[in-house]
Amino acid sequence: MSAKIIDGKAFAADVRARIAGHVARLKEENGITPGLAVVLVGEDPASEVYVRSKGKATIEAGMNSWEHKLPADTPEAELLALIERLNGDRRVHGILVQLPLPKHLDADLVINAIDPAKDVDGFHISNVGLLGTGQKAMVPCTPLGCLMLLRDQLGSLAGLEAVVVGRSNIVGKPMAQLLLGDNCTVTIAHSRTRDLAAVCRRADILVAAVGRPEMIAGDWIKPGATVIDVGINRVERDGRTRLVGDVDFAGCAKVAGAITPVPGGVGPMTIACLLANTLTACCRANGLAEPEGLTA
Ligand code: GUN
Repeated sequence: MSAKIIDGKAFAADVRARIAGHVARLKEENGITPGLAVVLVGEDPASEVYVRSKGKATIEAGMNSWEHKLPADTPEAELLALIERLNGDRRVHGILVQLPLPKHLDADLVINAIDPAKDVDGFHISNVGLLGTGQKAMVPCTPLGCLMLLRDQLGSLAGLEAVVVGRSNIVGKPMAQLLLGDNCTVTIAHSRTRDLAAVCRRADILVAAVGRPEMIAGDWIKPGATVIDVGINRVERDGRTRLVGDVDFAGCAKVAGAITPVPGGVGPMTIACLLANTLTACCRANGLAEPEGLTA
């Protein structure tokens, strides 16, 4: 058997086109333009690339985009004052502080200073609590993107066995909450799980988010399972740098029913969901109906 390859790039392009359509209608019918402010502290090259591509995607969707670049030695009080200003700015519907922050800044304190209604990353403790109790929350972008791919692939997820490998606050834990919300039977596995292979073999849905290159082997996969690979790992191979996931793609594709590639799987969905969350935040802020299919 050979798995269907889930084209996250094409799906994300479709989501972004739908968002652009909603944004155009919001402007025309309500005179409102959704806006996203991204804050970058310091000069981490990878973060600069991410922030630039987020800004570009925001503008392509027809939204307002603001980039706030602060020096690496910015005092915490200054960063908090900027967040306070963005919280009070009615043109700004989403605020994202790019992580990681320089060491002298307390990331939890900074994230929790963002108005939860504008927290398009879904990292604020209020949103974590709302998601965990099944209430309307801002949902972290990567797990939301995975959920959209799974729903598109499988329709209803009810009753399916889902195994999430990885317990991070950004992916693993919210992913498990979302799958539970869609009535899966959910296991969170991690590096200390006993007989991880056997646990993975139970999964109708396997989400890999551990950050270990090609750790999930083909014989860990239940035949026909849907495999979502969140990993993005740089490895040196044959003298070249290559991107690989947490899943051994070639091995798992022989057994799975459907599988996301790296690159071109989950990655493009993360930015699409950042735009989706900004649009959702804008609709909620203005008492308007939320767009369908773009939230959990
Ligand atoms: N750094 C890497 N990924 C992310 C993300 O999803 N959100 C933020 N704020 N920073 C990141």
